[in-house]
Amino acid sequence: MAQLEQFAAPGSEWWRTAVIYQIYPRSFADASGDGIGDLPGVTSRLDDLKDLGVDAIWLSPFMTSPQKDAGYDVTDYRDVDPLFGTLADFDELLAQAHARGIRVIVDLVPNHSSDQHVWFQQALKAAPGSPERARYIFRDGKGENGELPPNNWESVFGGGMWERVIEADGTPGQWYLHIFDATQPDFDWTNEEVREEFRSILRFWLDRGVDGFRVDVAHGMIKADGLPDYMPPTDADSMGGGEDDVPYWGQDGVHEIYRDWHEVLAEYDGDRALAGEAWLPTLEKTALWVRPDEMHQTFNFPYLMTHWDAADLRAVIRDSLDAFGGVGAPSTWVLSNHDVVRHASRLALTADNPQGEGIGPKSAGKPDPAVGLSRGRAASTVMLALPGSAYIYQGEELGLPEAMEIPDEFRQDPTWFRTNGERYGRDGCRVPLPWTADAPAFGFNDTGLSWLPQPDEWAASARDVEASDPDSTLNLYRRLIALRHERELGYGSLVWEDAGANAVAFRRGDLHVVANLGTEPIELGEGVEFLVRSEPFAGTALPPDTAAWFIRA
Ligand code: GLC
Repeated sequence: MAQLEQFAAPGSEWWRTAVIYQIYPRSFADASGDGIGDLPGVTSRLDDLKDLGVDAIWLSPFMTSPQKDAGYDVTDYRDVDPLFGTLADFDELLAQAHARGIRVIVDLVPNHSSDQHVWFQQALKAAPGSPERARYIFRDGKGENGELPPNNWESVFGGGMWERVIEADGTPGQWYLHIFDATQPDFDWTNEEVREEFRSILRFWLDRGVDGFRVDVAHGMIKADGLPDYMPPTDADSMGGGEDDVPYWGQDGVHEIYRDWHEVLAEYDGDRALAGEAWLPTLEKTALWVRPDEMHQTFNFPYLMTHWDAADLRAVIRDSLDAFGGVGAPSTWVLSNHDVVRHASRLALTADNPQGEGIGPKSAGKPDPAVGLSRGRAASTVMLALPGSAYIYQGEELGLPEAMEIPDEFRQDPTWFRTNGERYGRDGCRVPLPWTADAPAFGFNDTGLSWLPQPDEWAASARDVEASDPDSTLNLYRRLIALRHERELGYGSLVWEDAGANAVAFRRGDLHVVANLGTEPIELGEGVEFLVRSEPFAGTALPPDTAAWFIRA
């Protein structure tokens, strides 16, 4: 049966079909040589992204921040952190990207600020019940002297979700809520002053010319009335993707905020877009985020979380197209980002690994690297054939695995500290990229410094090595993206085909796409002309953990 059409004609609303490349600025390219990537570094590599063929880039936060959570803790939403450059560097990046036909999305972090934000500093100095405190979520504690937190919520990064403050008179006082680190106090989004401030921040970046925003923790901004107790199941993913009725995730009140922002973006020309980070239990619920007057896209985390299983993968693709198509929105597709184990490792894990846990030297179920890479390449080969918009995370086009052996002393994810090393967290997917095999820090900069150590074996995955190898992951991605554009695969629908229980098989016009998720080869039959193979193989039998695009003569 044909799936619902993606509702767009070629040429309109770029975000419906775009291939969007996520840049994690601190690990992309480092022009200053201090070991942390920066905006001039990004600008210097735009030609490589043009060559890869992406339509847009999403920049993870580069705004002023003490970097307690790698920039997801902002002190000034209208400036660039000196670590990453200046506003002038940003303007130059934007102009250079636009000159190459590449759109630019910036990351907006509205759920919380840094504790160093001027508003939070004012709140600490002000009295309980003051307008300064009302911008955040301050509450009196429980117990005789308020010594117990207001409820039992647990932070995504481990430990409690409340921190007690010392009042101006030197005595222990109220508590404030932080879904993430204690240095990331949550705003109170029922407060009109907070709403107005963020409208103004949106306009600040829209006026500079950005094409849209990735909205951080979009599902966390409204908390249930009365802040009722809640304890997640012990094996839950830390961002709440699998759970229903969580008082701080996916509350209905968030929709009003997105509608408001939709109107702000609509004041500007050129199809500006909002892409929400929303970890929700079902695709039906996720689709509500992208009704016509709300966000334009939301990340498809149910797709990302799907294991290497043909029936599950078919189901999530079908359900995604139905759920998003049902509200007139494009489905998005994503396999990796800066918060999850890289998919060239994740798809071959042999033990449970909830999101946010990470993999380190002592983890169980570590993946076989060759199996992981094959599955990763096959998964991307399927993803880039699907209608809608696809997100690529920097480094996946090189087939990079998770860095699993980072020595403890280098770890920086607050998860690692807040769980006393019980959870490794996300550093393993954030290691600086290898550009040139035979250069200091593999060409990440020219000083050899790197804020997280790069594994030696990454020399073989450096961009210059892969660029000259026709069978590299880089050349696979280039080919997939080029053909995706040529054949306008972002538009339209798909027709399912039957290639057996262990296959994911569908047709896009005359293009056949088959992935083998089983353990036996799948014979593709007569007259096959391959356009892409995720790995080289001879004949017409598709090996296990491989995918192909082909037409039939
Ligand atoms: C989002 C970001 C993540 C960050 C968290 C808190 O989930 O993707 O990296 O730690 O929000 O801002």
